[in-house]
Amino acid sequence: MYRNNLTKKEIERRFAERSDEDSARIRSLLNCDRRQFLRTSLEFAGMAAAASLVPLHSFQLVNVAHAAEDGGGGFRFAYISDTHLYDRGMNHRFVKAVLKAVEDVNAMDPQPDFVLFGGDLAQLGKPGELSLGKQLLNEVRAPLKMIVGEHDWYLDLGEKWRELFGRDYYSFDHKGVHFVVLNSVVEKDFWTEKGYTPEERMAIVAGLDDSRQSPFEVGEEQRDWLRSDLEQVNRKTPIVVFSHSPLYKLYRPWNFWTDDAEEVQALLRRFKTVTVLHGHTHQLLTNRIRNIHFHGLLSTAWPWPYAPEGLPNYTVQMNRADPFDQFDGCGDGSVEVLASGRVDKHYNLWSQNPRTVTAAQLASGKIPGARGYDGPAY
Ligand SMILES: [Fe+2]
Ligand SMILES: [Fe+2]
Repeated sequence: MYRNNLTKKEIERRFAERSDEDSARIRSLLNCDRRQFLRTSLEFAGMAAAASLVPLHSFQLVNVAHAAEDGGGGFRFAYISDTHLYDRGMNHRFVKAVLKAVEDVNAMDPQPDFVLFGGDLAQLGKPGELSLGKQLLNEVRAPLKMIVGEHDWYLDLGEKWRELFGRDYYSFDHKGVHFVVLNSVVEKDFWTEKGYTPEERMAIVAGLDDSRQSPFEVGEEQRDWLRSDLEQVNRKTPIVVFSHSPLYKLYRPWNFWTDDAEEVQALLRRFKTVTVLHGHTHQLLTNRIRNIHFHGLLSTAWPWPYAPEGLPNYTVQMNRADPFDQFDGCGDGSVEVLASGRVDKHYNLWSQNPRTVTAAQLASGKIPGARGYDGPAY
């Protein structure tokens, strides 16, 4: 384990000695669990930074080519997600990642119509973490839309987040598209009976695979609200939903999951065009269930490995992130809402080539690089 008092020489020697061993370790990491992956990533990030072997702030700027494919009339918004900020002064790496994402988005020309923040602004829901996040996101030039993640919520059950950002679920209309923002990380009360403190509750939820918690859900209150919200909307109006967890069931042990997903999907079924964008999974992720297209957002903090089972056939997997490169698999991105209401999804991976999953590919099921298409006729 990296220690602060290691000399640069000692670290360099350890790097040299471990080069053979490391190539074997990289291969073994292809199938390791998430804790081992994170431990190794953080260990090597620390060693490398201390030895000045890689710059702490090693990004590349990616310019996204964008063009409306169906006659224009569309628009674009950008996103930044899953920043997982610690208290001020505690983790400069994550702060620098946010600053870079804000800089990239602010450099877009023309500017996006708005910027979505996809949740998990904070790491442990502390007021200082959330305030720092607000301060950093205040630098975004375009209007900002916020959704909440579980890391923002379970210390004080959303009190500070709501004070800073307002309602955790709402809807708005923009250029003919109806947008819905949901809090999809509602959990049933697992803490009162057990007498967990707020800090314990937050730590249990933050450890995604801690089975003492409940699965995420949208919950009855929001489903009732959503039902009445959508009653006002014509079925031909394109719908875009923002949630933190995927609004389908991917992998329960990691809470890559929304427990009432089918009930929420049923409320969206009558609409011609529906897109769901979610954070939380920190990876390039694509799915389609009947009329609903789903896209996962990249994180600025770290990439999760793919779940060992449940991965949708529509997903074009990005390379397994290199655990020795602290920014591999991280990024920001943009969403092109076409005039048809469908979306092309652009991923700006900071250390790989940018990727795009187009609406046409997803609608046809023919997505280059995906495992296959076995869904229903569309
Ligand atoms: Fe996250
Ligand atoms: Fe999350």
